[in-house]
Amino acid sequence: MQHDQWRMPDRSEAEEFIRLFHAEHPNQPVPLSMRLRQVREHLDTYGTYRHTRAELDFGARVAWRNASRCIGRLYWKSLRVIDRRAAVTADEIYAGLCDHLRLATNHGRVRPMISVFAPATPDRAAPLVWNSQLVRYAGYRDRDGTAIGDQGQTGFTDTVRRLGWQAPGGWFDILPLVVQAPGDKPQLYDLPRELVLEVPLSHPDFPGFARLGLRWYAVPVISHMRLSIGGVDYPLAPFNGWYMGTEIGARNLVDPDRYNLLPVVARLLGLDTSSESTLWRDRALVETNIAVLHSFEAAGVKITDHHTESRRFLTHLAREEEEGRIVPADWSWIVPPVSGGITPVFHRYYDEAELRPAFHLDAEARARAAGGCPAGH
Ligand code: ARG
Repeated sequence: MQHDQWRMPDRSEAEEFIRLFHAEHPNQPVPLSMRLRQVREHLDTYGTYRHTRAELDFGARVAWRNASRCIGRLYWKSLRVIDRRAAVTADEIYAGLCDHLRLATNHGRVRPMISVFAPATPDRAAPLVWNSQLVRYAGYRDRDGTAIGDQGQTGFTDTVRRLGWQAPGGWFDILPLVVQAPGDKPQLYDLPRELVLEVPLSHPDFPGFARLGLRWYAVPVISHMRLSIGGVDYPLAPFNGWYMGTEIGARNLVDPDRYNLLPVVARLLGLDTSSESTLWRDRALVETNIAVLHSFEAAGVKITDHHTESRRFLTHLAREEEEGRIVPADWSWIVPPVSGGITPVFHRYYDEAELRPAFHLDAEARARAAGGCPAGH
């Protein structure tokens, strides 16, 4: 029986991908014409086709190469691709997610990695994870309006509480995973503590910073984006790189609708907050970013700064240009959220093409991760 998630792969997208794969990897054991015929036959007979291991590796890497919001694409070829298409039950999916976290964390020597789970087929839905990242901190708002934890996660935190999670109510509580096996109800799983590497934050010059009790997790594993390769959708394909410090120090800890910590840091530093023109926000922001980079480095956890990463991105642009490819990029995401104008990526414009394969954030996935009700459910 067909299910509502099913969407037949587009023939021309499938062919376009197979051609791209062969163009960038000539001399395949199965020649292009034969593979194209095979794919067309499978589409006609089964309504879908199956990627070979080599096609899956290439497709996932090119989806990263095409991710116009990512500044870290220089290493796209080194993405490790784990084939998890055989995982079906919630327990198997959970085990695969735990393996991903362990292998990607690699004791702090973080490896860019993606685990690709089963695509939907005409008669079976794809597995799903509702979380936006494998590791996230809960967010709460008490009756009197006091904000605790990651305010970006309050909706999702409510969802997992309704599913039965006992919330500790702290500032950095790791949320459970919500795993949904094909055709099944969502299941809660706690991540094993030992799999979640975290870094306590301290500042090299201000001992008081450590006493704020701040921390962040080592590896951001995005788990709610659909990987689309040659017309085939992989709704569960969690992937990670390593952090750039500003993601934590200029956004997660700082955005008013996240941890909103600039006033707290300013007080610690004894800054004059009586007027905007003292630039107390800017000073607190820079010191917070120094603390993040310092702490990750001290803990032996791979991280990068925005100056280094901006230069690497320009290297990436030059290399891709040499290969005759365009690099689609979104200026507002590529330019770092601190010191934009003193990084080289600020001073130019970029191509804005939407190339395939690609990662997509669907409205339904966004709604699940926000704790809302996906349309129609
Ligand atoms: N910005 C997100 C976060 O702070 C992570 C996005 C992916 N980042 C990365 N370095 N691969 O958690």
